[in-house]
Amino acid sequence: MSTKIGRNDPCWCGSGKKYKKCHEEFDAKISYFKSLGHIVPDHSIIKTPEQIEKIKESCKVNIAVLDYVAQHIHAGMTTQEIDDLVAEKTAEFGAIPAPLNYEGYPKSVCTSINEVVCHGIPSDKVILKDGDIINVDASTILNGYFSDSSRMFCIGNVSPENRKLVEVVKECVELGLEKVQPWGFLGDMGQAVNDHATANGYEVVREIGGHGVGLEFHEDPWVSYVTKAGEDMLLVPGMIFTIEPMINMGTHRVDVDKNDGWTVTTHDKKPSAQWEIMVLVTETGHEVLCY
Ligand code: MF3
Ligand code: CO
Repeated sequence: MSTKIGRNDPCWCGSGKKYKKCHEEFDAKISYFKSLGHIVPDHSIIKTPEQIEKIKESCKVNIAVLDYVAQHIHAGMTTQEIDDLVAEKTAEFGAIPAPLNYEGYPKSVCTSINEVVCHGIPSDKVILKDGDIINVDASTILNGYFSDSSRMFCIGNVSPENRKLVEVVKECVELGLEKVQPWGFLGDMGQAVNDHATANGYEVVREIGGHGVGLEFHEDPWVSYVTKAGEDMLLVPGMIFTIEPMINMGTHRVDVDKNDGWTVTTHDKKPSAQWEIMVLVTETGHEVLCY
């Protein structure tokens, strides 16, 4: 945080207004929380109204991509066909799938079935079968702005146990979301997610979390779900991050595939589920941008 800015200088946010008429009070409030020992956000992750509009456009594409997958997903198709759907729909909007070539990731989307926790790589050898639960995680770059969300799909006759896992994870996200408000804390959300998961006998993955998003694919803060209310980063208007808990029916322990370097599976091979939304902290509460 810059302290050198003069009260009559233009505000750091780019509004063109004088600092004293724009973010001065906002910064003072952040400094106060910092003085109490809280982790506070850097200006670089606080989005301007113009940036928020651009990010929302990207989100619209991501939502359309997942809607398209939802219309076409079925038992008997390969996960490569899901990748094809994503690539096709994203291109229709003149957008780019963010996963493609991201740190060497080879495909346009992540498809994670049953015991695969996340980062499952689409393949023409993997065929969706009756009873599978699958997470399809899509991320889009439109005009340089990023969006990211994922949904679960139940393929045909899913067992009651697995269906419940899918439903409870969605509830976890919704309960976490309710806690997102300005001048609250990321841990308020994290604890709500964790409490609901553990109340249902599940465990929350620790090593992989959510993230700030919008100007980059992955920005600060790193979003954990093993935090406590009143802890972790202060939430202020203009922050955008994902809520994307991965919740395991058995142990929280996970392994990364040694061969492909990406696929994360549960250590005990029991199923895992995840939903991902993108949320904006507003002056009065929050707004879901992508789901
Ligand atoms: N979409 C994932 C997330 O929620 C990131 C996947 S990285 C990839 O953060 F390279 F595997 F696509
Ligand atoms: Co994400």
